[in-house]
This record gives sequence, structure tokens and C-alpha cells, in this order.
Amino acid sequence: MTSPKNSALPPGPKRHWLLGTGIQQLKNPLGLLVRGQQKHGDIVFFHQHHGPTWLLSHPDHAQRVLADNATNYLSMMGDGPDPMLGRGLFASKGDFWLRQRRMVQPAFHRPRLARMVEGMVQDAQRAVERLAPLASTGEPVELLNQMRRLVISMLGTSIFSKDIYESQPLLRETINYFSQEIHSPHDSLLEALGGMLRLYRSRFKRFMKAVEDINTVFYGLIAERRQSSTPREDVLTMLIEARDTQGVAMTDTEVRDELVSLYVGGHESTSVALTWICYEVANHPEVQQRIREELATVLGGNPLTAESLQALHYTRAVVEETLRLRPPAWQFVRRAAKEDQLGSWTITPDTKVIISPYILHRHRDFWEEPERFIPERFLPERKEGRHRYAYLPFGAGQRQCVGNGYTLTLLTTALATLLQHYQLRLAPGYELVIMSGSTHRPRNGVLATLHPVPAAA
Ligand code: HEM
Repeated sequence: MTSPKNSALPPGPKRHWLLGTGIQQLKNPLGLLVRGQQKHGDIVFFHQHHGPTWLLSHPDHAQRVLADNATNYLSMMGDGPDPMLGRGLFASKGDFWLRQRRMVQPAFHRPRLARMVEGMVQDAQRAVERLAPLASTGEPVELLNQMRRLVISMLGTSIFSKDIYESQPLLRETINYFSQEIHSPHDSLLEALGGMLRLYRSRFKRFMKAVEDINTVFYGLIAERRQSSTPREDVLTMLIEARDTQGVAMTDTEVRDELVSLYVGGHESTSVALTWICYEVANHPEVQQRIREELATVLGGNPLTAESLQALHYTRAVVEETLRLRPPAWQFVRRAAKEDQLGSWTITPDTKVIISPYILHRHRDFWEEPERFIPERFLPERKEGRHRYAYLPFGAGQRQCVGNGYTLTLLTTALATLLQHYQLRLAPGYELVIMSGSTHRPRNGVLATLHPVPAAA
């Protein structure tokens, strides 16, 4: 049944006659959206700096934009190859994207994930060892940097069968440079734009050198692998051996581009997610205690395996609840190609739409006590009956995160292994400051103290 057409604009916040809501958007982009939804409801109109924009906050809208009519809602990426991402999954569109997606996705199928767990556990145990001297002093540890180090080694092991961050100094320098650029504290678009300007004026050369260095390392690894006779089961081998529907393999450039999307693109949100998880467990000692009880029952002091991971229901629920309250990817922006109908509202061509996981995940009609951290809501028996599009930490539809299942495995493995060895407490006097820039994250990281737990736990 179709509703009558409504050509008026949805309600929205007051705007400056010239600048629209641009100033508020620059100051606090997430705050502007949250207040808009609280005041005006599930469809809100904004005059943003990039043009007329609708915030859509009902899960049915997310389903319409991301899945049912996804071909009408285009990504905001430019058309040519991106200097860094090339034509990897993050940056490509249309038939080429579909070809690549079909070739990359099998590398993350369930049986392959199970085979990656052992390597992830070893990396997490190395992180436990790295943290030991810091834990013994009782000094506060900054967790975002530590978790980034851990995540990058886990990604290296899964993709290349080695911690290339450790073994390739050129890459280490480049990843550190990108992390600084992405993570310098732009918590508003204004600061981000300032950063970009500086980047393009005085740092353009540095950026291009980083791209060159990534190319040197990745093309080197691809060539080495093509010549190697040692059988490997990692993502790089999968990419090299993948064939499209015509039986054609990827070129070196195509493999390079996918490696950048997966390794460089994937590490950022995952490091932030793991840091949030540590923050939440440090902030909820009763949750931490319950995880430790589950670890003692299921693992009995032994290292995690792919099989035992399946039984860590509560630990996994903590990961999923953290991604609900603290989704690193806090908004997706799309552009409507043609007119579309959302209930009685008509979206005109070229309108931007925003779907915000942060807002969907705290929607009062779909979550009980949405502001509270309650991992139990993600226990298998409690998940039933939830609107599928009310929870979107990894997006939805055909552009859903290709690393979705992989990331949940990685995060649960890292959390379980860390908590087998340490109790986490927030450092005295630490205050959380949040920013929503390229990711939704703790602005200055998280300061915590680590306390060894007895070996049998
Ligand atoms: C907690 C960590 C992560 C979060 C929150 C996350 C979130 C997302 C989201 C929301 C999208 C879809 C964006 C959109 O529709 O506009 C996406 C896409 C993607 N993610 Fe992730 N991701 C994470 C980790 C990873 C990891 C570890 C990898 C690589 C192993 C990865 C690889 C990708 C790729 C390649 C795409 C593009 C997919 C496509 O367009 O076909 N992500 N991610």
C-alpha cells in the first residue's frame, strides 16, 4: 500500500539564513543529529554544508536505504581511483565492486575464520607479554595505542601469516603516520578540514611518500608470495588464487588495493572498538567478573581455541553490547540518485541521507534502557525478535562490512585472552572525553591500570 505523497520538507532544527546548520555541524556533528532526532523524530531535515540532508532514524528507513532500495542510494566516494585505496572494496562501485567483493568475501567465510583463531591467540598472548612490565609498575597504560598494536599484529597474521608491522620498518612508519593523521584530535569537521588543508599544503609530499612506501611493501609481499612454493592459508593467498566468473585472477594492483582496504582500512575501527571494550569492562567490574567466571568454566586456564570460542556467549555479548553503545562507524552518508518514497515523505534526487548506527542503537522504541550497558541483551536467547536493522555496527545490505564475522572473532579472542591475564581498572582521575570524527572514539585514549590475575583463572 502506498501512502499519499508529501512534497513538504520534514521538520528540522532552526537554521542560520545563510549557513544553514553548518556551524552546529562543524562544532559537534553527532550532537546535532542526536538533538535533531530527540526533538523532531525519525525523519529530520538539515541544511548541512554539503546540501539538503535527511537524518533517517527508524530501522525501516535503514532497511530501505541500505538494502531494499540500495541501488538508489549512492556512496559519497569520488569516481576515480583513490590515491591510497585505489579501487579496493572501500573505494569502488558498480560492476567492478561486485566482482571484487565476490573474490574477497570467501577469504572470511566461517571455516577460514576458525583456522585464524590460533594465530590471533598467539598475537594476543604476545600483547599480554608486552604489557607485563607496564602492569608490574602499576602505572596507568594508554590503551588505544596498545590495542592498535595488538589489532595490527592480528590483522598481519591473518592476512600475511606474519606481523608485517613488526618486520617491515617502512610500513611501521607509514601506519603510524596514517594513524596520527586520522587520529589527530579532529572532533569536528572544522578541525578535520583544517587538518586536510594543512595536509594538502605542507604535507602533501609526506602523504604521497606514505602511499609509495605502502606500495613498496605490499607489491614486495605479493611478488614474494607469487614466487613462494610454501603453501599458506592466509588472506593474501586467497586473494591471489581467487578467480572471477570469467575465470580471471586479480592483477597485482587489484590485490594491492584490496590489501590496503583490509589491512589499513580495517585496523582503525577495530582498534577503536577494542579500546571501547576495555573501557566498558574496566568501568563495569561486575561484567568483568562474569567474563572471568565464564573463562574459568570454559577454558579452565587453557588458551582459547576456535571450538571453545563458540562457548564464550557472555564474552561475545560484551563485545556486541559495546558495539551497540559505542559504534566506531557512527554514521553512513548516501546520496539519493532518484526520487524515493519513505512513508508519506518524498526524497528528491541529490538529497543526502544519513543513517546513524549511534542513534539507531539508542532508539527508545527498539531498546529497553538504551543508555545502559547491559551485555545480557545479546545472549543468544535474548536476541530473538529484534528488528534486524536496529543494530548496524557493520552496516547492512550489499555494502555491509566484509570483515564483520572476522572482527567479532578477533575482538572476542583479544578480550578473552587479555582478561585471562589481567584485571582492568580505569586509572584514578581518568575522565572519558568522546569525539566523533572519522570514528566515534575516546578523544585522548583510555588510561587504565592492569592487575595480574592468578594463573588458573
Ligand atoms: C569494529 C571494527 C569494524 C567496524 C565497526 C566496521 C564497520 C564497517 C562498516 C559500517 C562498513 C560499511 C560502510 C558503509 O556501508 O558505508 C564497513 C565496510 C568495510 N569494512 Fe569494516 N568494520 C570493521 C572492521 C573491519 C575489518 C577488520 C576489515 C578487514 C579485515 C574491514 C573491512 C571492510 C571493507 C573492505 C569494507 C568495504 C566493504 C564493501 O563496500 O564491499 N572492516 N565496515
